Amino acid sequence: MTGAHAFSHKHLLGMEHLSAEEITTILDLGENFLEIANRSIKKVPTLRGKTVINLFLEPSTRTRTSFEIAAKRLSADGVNFTAASSSTTKGETLIDTATNLDAMSPDIVVIRHAQAGSPLLLTKHIKAAVVNAGDGQHEHPTQALLDASTIRAHKGKIEGLTVVICGDIDHSRVARSNIFALRKLGARVRVAGPRSLLPLGIESLGVEAFDRVEPALEGADVVMMLRIQLERKAGGRFPNTREYARLFGLNARRLALAKPDAIVMHPGPMNRGVEISPEVADGPRSVILDQVARGVAIRMAVLYLLGGGSDAVE
Ligand code: CP
Repeated sequence: MTGAHAFSHKHLLGMEHLSAEEITTILDLGENFLEIANRSIKKVPTLRGKTVINLFLEPSTRTRTSFEIAAKRLSADGVNFTAASSSTTKGETLIDTATNLDAMSPDIVVIRHAQAGSPLLLTKHIKAAVVNAGDGQHEHPTQALLDASTIRAHKGKIEGLTVVICGDIDHSRVARSNIFALRKLGARVRVAGPRSLLPLGIESLGVEAFDRVEPALEGADVVMMLRIQLERKAGGRFPNTREYARLFGLNARRLALAKPDAIVMHPGPMNRGVEISPEVADGPRSVILDQVARGVAIRMAVLYLLGGGSDAVE
């Protein structure tokens, strides 16, 4: 691990304001951290003595668990906070919750919240570094970073690739963060979905928009499927899930429109049989579980950079 890194931010709030160089710094560090998962003792002393609080006020399987594992692998003390067992159920506000946790002197607070802008709000009230683990429909930067890491590993590059993001674009913080990251890294990005789930003016982010999935898939290198976010009322934007699967779901027949070596991605959780068929999700072109594995290494890289990690990785 080298000492100087092209990353000078105190917080990680989104991909919108990171440069291509900063994104590449995180991807390269994540690549270095990957091999720790294969050691018999999966731990390095890099963040020994640091405290990371995972403040998850929305459900999560992958992001919360991987931040917790990432902190442990770096020897930081990780504390998990979930809404159901906290005083938020008694009406305590987000700011009061965060300032009280900050009074315990954590170094990093990782926050997931249903409200867009919550991580930015925290930065104005607490001393700890803040990592956005998904805020409403705004951004999910570590998902975009682990997605970029997966694409780079499987395709050898990102620049010049055609990436299709398909599904519930309107509600998707994953789509927004990926669009920012992939465009900065030189990919062509297409978004596809029912017209009712495509945000107006999405082309201003530098993407091509399609209201049918077939033309979007033609010649694609990467196919990223997104979950229909029924908890954000997406179900009211199309007739029913069977109709959605028939018109927009990724199955083997549709995947054949992409390049023969195209990879298939999904951030999870999947609605199997709706946006993606089980044969494709579990098929040879799927890299979905590699995305999850890389999520730990990418989150280690982010905690390392924000936590001022020492260079000792042995
Ligand atoms: N991709 C993702 O954010 O998954 P979780 O909601 O399970 O964390």
